[in-house]
Formats: sequence, structure tokens, C-alpha cells
Amino acid sequence: MTEEGQGSAAGGPVGRPVGEPLIELRGVNKHFGQLHVLQDIDLTVGRGEVVVVIGPSGSGKSTLCRAINRLETVESGTILIEGQPLPAEGKGLAKLRAEVGMVFQSFNLFAHKTVLQNVTLAQVKVRKRGKAEAEARGRRLLDRVGLAAHAAKYPAQLSGGQQQRVAIARALAMDPKALLFDEPTSALDPEMINEVLEVMRALAAEGMTMVVVTHEMGFARSAANRVVFMADGRIVEDRVPEEFFADPRSERARDFLSKILKH
Ligand SMILES: Nc1ncnc2c1ncn2[C@@H]1O[C@H](COP(=O)(O)OP(=O)(O)OP(=O)(O)O)[C@@H](O)[C@H]1O
Ligand SMILES: [Mg+2]
Repeated sequence: MTEEGQGSAAGGPVGRPVGEPLIELRGVNKHFGQLHVLQDIDLTVGRGEVVVVIGPSGSGKSTLCRAINRLETVESGTILIEGQPLPAEGKGLAKLRAEVGMVFQSFNLFAHKTVLQNVTLAQVKVRKRGKAEAEARGRRLLDRVGLAAHAAKYPAQLSGGQQQRVAIARALAMDPKALLFDEPTSALDPEMINEVLEVMRALAAEGMTMVVVTHEMGFARSAANRVVFMADGRIVEDRVPEEFFADPRSERARDFLSKILKH
């Protein structure tokens, strides 16, 4: 991580204040067999900060997200949430997954539950809310993502963009401290991408702490405090978007940007 990257974390592109460290990775390493997929990763995400992670396919972006949520274990180094190491298992782990919500490319909704049930179940199970309270909160959040009229439908009856907004509402229902997004718009038709990015922009503006793996460079420019560029399991650049896009320092990043911006 560069000095500049850390220093510039103090102020966001839209003047959002960035608070104390919420997510911290120190010297994190992981292999898949011979493949060193996370190499000495140091990354700090402040409260209220939006960090966009980009990089070529196979560079370790998903593994990084999954490690923060402990969907993957790591071999060395530490990962802290609010200064606390990740819980290994049991109730602590369920609580972690509620507090650091994750939104995947493939939505991962429960196919045989209604939209309302999807945004209610974990509130009752993990957060121990009563059914009425959980449903009221679920309906408020569906309203917020523009889906109040769809509460009784099943996921297959919704468009991809609508399903992804349900997935975001479901994560929000847990009162997360932070949200991780792994290519949330990559499976969507172009006309649906914006409706999901709009929800994410609104969350960012409200101060939600977010780590977002995405190829949407417009989102990175407009909503991110920092862009983290990964290649071959390493963080190669960690900088404010304006600087990164105007003047990428590494050959890898220049090459990547020239490809992605040509689309
Ligand atoms: N469960 C696994 N077992 C073995 N190898 C894995 C596993 N998950 C990922 N890998 C490998 O680790 C490397 C990093 O994968 P990862 O999914 O983190 O990359 P990525 O940057 O998210 O790529 P993409 O842009 O294609 O999503 C890849 O080479 C991948 O094949
Ligand atoms: Mg990935």
C-alpha cells in the first residue's frame, strides 16, 4: 500500500468524512495449492469509506472479499473488524456475517421464499427480532430500494436488477457495519446496472462503509474514496480515484485501464 493511498483516505470525493479503521488487514496471505492468491495484503477501510477494488481476472479480488467475511480462511496475518479479530465459528461468525454483509454477483436469494421472507428470515434467526418487527423493517427496506410492490413475489418473478436490490435490502436488514459487494452488476443486463448502482450510490452518500469489487469505473470515480488495484494477489496501487485514473503508476494498472476503458 502506498503512503499516498493511506494519506488520501482522509477525505472523499464528495467530502464524506472518513472515520476510524473499521476493517483492517495486516500482512494477510493465502494460497490455493501452489497459487499465492493473497500476498502480504495490507488494507485499512475507515468507517464511512467506500473502497473500490479492481484488477484483472484471477487477481484475488473475490478471495479478498471472502476473507474479510471469513468465507475463506487465511494462513497468516490478521483481519480485524472494529479492532477485533474475525471469529472462527459459531455464533460469533453468524454475527460477523450479519455485521459485514456481502452482496454477490449471483444474488444468492432463497428461491423458494418470497421477497419479504428473504429480507426477514435472518433478522429473526440471527438478530432475534420478532416476526412483526422484522417484517416491518423488511418492508421499509424494500420500499427504499424501490420494491415495495414486489414483497409477495418469488425471486424468479423479478428481473436481475430487482433481485440484486432485494439482496441489498436483505443485507441492510441486518444493520451491517459494512457491506462487501463482489461484482454486484456483472450478471445484469445493461439497462439494470444503473438501478443497482443508484442504490449503492445512495448508501455511500449516507455513510455506509463499503468495499466494492466492480468494473463500473463510473461508480469508482463518482462514489469511491479510494481505488485499490490488485494484480497477481497483491495490492499494486491504493489511491484516490482522480489520481489513479489520471495517472496510474504501474504498468499493470495502465494496461488494465486501457483495456477496460475501451469497452
Ligand atoms: N476455491 C478455490 N480453489 C482453488 N483455486 C481458487 C479457488 N477460488 C479461487 N481460486 C483461484 O484463485 C485465484 C484468485 O481468484 P479470485 O476469484 O479471488 O479472483 P478475482 O480477482 O475475483 O477474479 P474475477 O475477476 O475473475 O472474479 C484465481 O486464479 C482462481 O482460479
Ligand atoms: Mg471475482
